[in-house]
Amino acid sequence: MEKIIINGQKTLTGTIEISGAKNSAVALIPASILSDEEVIISNVPNITDREALNEILEYLGAEVSFDKGEMKINTKKISNKEIPEEISKKLRASYYFMGALLSKFKKVKMFFPGGCNIGSRPINLHLKGFELLGAKVIQEKNLYIIEADELKGANIYLDIPSVGATVNLMLAASKAQGTTIIENAAKEPEIVNVAIFLNNMGAKIVGAGTSEIKITGVEKLGKCYHEVIPDRIEAGTYLIAGALCGKELVIKNVIPEHLDALISKLKETGTKISIENTQITISKPEKFLPIYIKTLGYPGFPTDLQQPLSTLLTQCEGTSMIEETIWEKRFQNLDYLKKMGANIEYEGNKAIIKGKTELNGSEVEATDLRGGACMVLAGLIAKDKTVINNVDHILRGYDHIIEKLKNVGAEIKAE
Ligand code: EPZ
Repeated sequence: MEKIIINGQKTLTGTIEISGAKNSAVALIPASILSDEEVIISNVPNITDREALNEILEYLGAEVSFDKGEMKINTKKISNKEIPEEISKKLRASYYFMGALLSKFKKVKMFFPGGCNIGSRPINLHLKGFELLGAKVIQEKNLYIIEADELKGANIYLDIPSVGATVNLMLAASKAQGTTIIENAAKEPEIVNVAIFLNNMGAKIVGAGTSEIKITGVEKLGKCYHEVIPDRIEAGTYLIAGALCGKELVIKNVIPEHLDALISKLKETGTKISIENTQITISKPEKFLPIYIKTLGYPGFPTDLQQPLSTLLTQCEGTSMIEETIWEKRFQNLDYLKKMGANIEYEGNKAIIKGKTELNGSEVEATDLRGGACMVLAGLIAKDKTVINNVDHILRGYDHIIEKLKNVGAEIKAE
């Protein structure tokens, strides 16, 4: 698929069911390496990032199957091979094989990972943590050789509460000797989901979801059955769609408290939202009030919803502001919103959006995963036809996006 074509200004009504969380699944799949037996992961989203991780597991010699969201993984016979760069650079989450293979084999050779072009994305905190656990890290251009005679528990303070480093260090520490404490850990729900998975396999992790995680190393991890939590970013994207053009649009299979920051901001714009257990109903309000958002680690406003929300800010009556504090290049989508008619100025990590402006269908780019979601939302409210190029970015993280939107009344197709 190369393009998504949308004929905008249709009302969305009906139900959208949310899939499993991409950023949880992409950590759980490499984490399965730590088990000496088969693991089963359910509610795995059907996205291309999952396919890439599948490819890596099979390359290493694992037995893997994927059927209706259920992934069975047996890594008993895997060998510790260098993962070819053309596979590892397909996605960011390939870096979780560093922690997982280091834990299993005490040695790993891996290239710098890929992922969306949204900033410099260093992995120094991951490497520093591995070193504190007793590993030696050698860097040859973009190849990393990480090796340890033995991994030993340590106190690790993260300069930044990095999601990737927190998960990678939980993986590396799960079978290390003694106790590891990760301080200033990231608190995202996906981290809790990974810790529960590891504990189900026999690990001893407490404190996930707080800024201090304690891991007591164990010798062996075994089989388990585990479910991926609902994708809060996918849910958030469709909530924004509902605010923009929904009439009692129901977003089903969500954990509402994972979306507190977005819901509170949507309410500030004047959007009416009703929450009942695991579903949220949302409709377009008569008008939107302008808002200020600042991206932060969980439970702050998620950077991954900043780009989708920018479409809505073009519809607010007055001046809205975005302050992006996590990624320095996460405004590339704004140029395309401007092409569609938005009034936006941005510099450094701040953007000012003045509204309300009509958006006109245009030919635009999915600059990255969430930038692509921003364009889909813009296409849904724009006059006439919007053509989005480079949609592979979108398919990396949104399960059946075309079908889900079509089912609730959008005129959208892939070409
Ligand atoms: C995860 O990326 C997500 N990716 C990202 O989702 C998300 O935007 C991000 O967390 C923040 O929530 C996955 O889970 C696969 P970080 P990650 O390490 O782990 C700096 C999406 O759209 N940093 O928490 O790579 C870094 O530069 C994506 O789904 C260091 O300086 O993010 C950034 O400013 C894109 N050194 C901040 O920390 C390090 O060693 C947070 O990054 C690591 C990170």
